[in-house]
Amino acid sequence: MTDQPHLLLTFGSSGDEAGRPAESEASPALHTGDPLPSIQHQSSGAIQRRRKSVVTRRLAVVATVAVAFALAACGSSSTTSSSTSSEAATSAAVPASSSASAAASSAAASATGEAGGASELPPVDPAVLEGAVIGFAQVGSESGWRSANTDSIKSSAEQYKVDLQFTSAEGDQAKQISSIKTFITQGVDLIAFSPVVETGWDSVLNEAKAAGIPVVLTDRAVDSDPSLYKTFIGSDFILEGEKAATWAKEEFADASAVNMVVLEGTTGSAPANDRATGWDNILGSDAKFNTLASQTGDFTRDGGKKVMEGFLAAYPNIDLVYAHNDDMGLGAIEAIEAAGKVPGKDIKIVTVDAVKAGMEALAAGKINFIVECSPLLGEQLFQASSAVLAGQEIPTRVITVEGSFNQEQAIAALPDRKY
Ligand code: AHR
Repeated sequence: MTDQPHLLLTFGSSGDEAGRPAESEASPALHTGDPLPSIQHQSSGAIQRRRKSVVTRRLAVVATVAVAFALAACGSSSTTSSSTSSEAATSAAVPASSSASAAASSAAASATGEAGGASELPPVDPAVLEGAVIGFAQVGSESGWRSANTDSIKSSAEQYKVDLQFTSAEGDQAKQISSIKTFITQGVDLIAFSPVVETGWDSVLNEAKAAGIPVVLTDRAVDSDPSLYKTFIGSDFILEGEKAATWAKEEFADASAVNMVVLEGTTGSAPANDRATGWDNILGSDAKFNTLASQTGDFTRDGGKKVMEGFLAAYPNIDLVYAHNDDMGLGAIEAIEAAGKVPGKDIKIVTVDAVKAGMEALAAGKINFIVECSPLLGEQLFQASSAVLAGQEIPTRVITVEGSFNQEQAIAALPDRKY
């Protein structure tokens, strides 16, 4: 059974408007790809905007409390999220064999622009978010998944009139930490980030906590104490690895031996760690599956292609590629075709993500199976931010509900695929 990380048993503490230091009002705008700014003197416009946002949020907090009292007086239950750990764990634990219905539900979720699981959080209060200064430190732009994730966050920020300070670390943890430190110095209202790797966040998370700035994690986990952030919204990567391996086990049920190679994601990242663990949970003790080689392609198409070229040169007998994301699988396809072999037939391929280019390759029979990992986290991020800034409690873990796709399901899902 899947080891569910950070179950939804506990609730985060309220957002802390009052504890914010007075000197934290500047918020010079950052843009994707901009170098990290030096700390600038705040403009009076920025101060005014910040004051307006604080006043708006204080009014929203008062309104939220008033609504809670009114509902309590009517005998209603709490207005905060009523999700439980078992609901979240159950919703995430979609077995690979139920991929048809899961694919249908994920296609429906995609059509609405949300990742499944949004109902675990209270709806956005637009008055709370308007003008709120939220710093988002993105991993980079390594894959189609990442581009879709960035688009989702930016378009939701625009929808809710959030003053989004967006930075991209281009896969460099030091750059991401520096970006978060800048957000702290600026005194943003909330910091969100998708950590490049799992370890090494304690110090900067403690700095954010000391400054009274709440932190929300999206997409990837950290190994820090959960008291250092309000919630972690994202996929169950172990389950994704298990789904991929379950498919491989069924696909090669009649084979006596399977020679496989693995294209790993970024070394030290949660998805690379967990997708390997998930695979091993299902096939680790199955001697039939022989791992010829396993190497990082850094979640990029180029990386996948180069590593696969090396694998093909060294091993003439590869039966199966397990790529930790679509982009690396797409790179592997190029390498396999260049080597005169037929991807999907001579060499089977299983990947994770289900971005449009991956789904097209699956529909064309070049990839054999894709486990979904939804990048559409913008709505959930701002649901969590709205609740935290309004002083509401939220689950400390929100697991995205996802499906998986075979060729037939990819063909059916492609016309509505948003990314
Ligand atoms: O963290 C999510 C992973 O990061 C996606 O699976 C991959 O494509 C991306 O680069």
